[in-house]
Amino acid sequence: MEVLIFPSYDEMSKAAARVVADLINAKPNAVLGLATGSTPIGLYRELVRMHKEEGLDFSQVVTFNLDEYVGLPKDHPQSYHYFMHEHLFKHINIPPQNIHIPAGTTSNYAAFCRWYEERIKQCGGIDLQILGIGADGHIAFNEPGSSLGSRTRIKTLARQTIEDNARFFGGRVEDVPIYAITMGVGTILEARKIILLANGRNKAKAVAAAIEGPVTSMITASALQLHPDVTFFLDEEAASELKMIDYFRWVQSNKPKAPKT
Ligand code: PGA
Repeated sequence: MEVLIFPSYDEMSKAAARVVADLINAKPNAVLGLATGSTPIGLYRELVRMHKEEGLDFSQVVTFNLDEYVGLPKDHPQSYHYFMHEHLFKHINIPPQNIHIPAGTTSNYAAFCRWYEERIKQCGGIDLQILGIGADGHIAFNEPGSSLGSRTRIKTLARQTIEDNARFFGGRVEDVPIYAITMGVGTILEARKIILLANGRNKAKAVAAAIEGPVTSMITASALQLHPDVTFFLDEEAASELKMIDYFRWVQSNKPKAPKT
């Protein structure tokens, strides 16, 4: 587990985008796991810039999004379909058939969830999964209490998540969907490499619990401790509750000289 701390949101976003771009350059048909929310917006902005200015090529890239609200049509401004289109897909050269996002309005959720898991496997599995973290320690919509072996399924959102996300719905808690379709913790842990981004004070407790606390379904991000290749990209505020912060800074500052593994 690697922890990288950056002086600003911008620097954090650019460093994470570099990881994504390096993978795409090394493996043009890479399979990416994508996240929504306010956290990865800077990362997507940087990928768009790299596409436009440096020719970063998405023509063979395949993507799978983590989650979607149940009941929101694709063109709803708060749907994750809409978010991904606005922040990334409409600005790059990814073929539409390479994009996978859980369906918020399917007539058969159980069948869809099975198909989504199967489709990830057919595409060779996820090479790089991008994650944010909720203030309650969730990854994707795996709320506290989710099985650490869970697969793609319907989840009831925690009140905290609904309140946190009300800001995207004009502050109206009653407009936030109660259910979401989400990859499970077990699905996420099968990605070959995982990067989790977090910025801001309100993430500091969840970040510390995920990195330094026990592995527990009460903080589903703590399951990442079981994964062999996870990097946390944090700004100073999100890192501020880490007890081991001096050690993480020490490792980071010595990284350029470290033997390559
Ligand atoms: P945020 O959400 O990026 O909007 O803070 C993260 C999450 O809930 O996973």
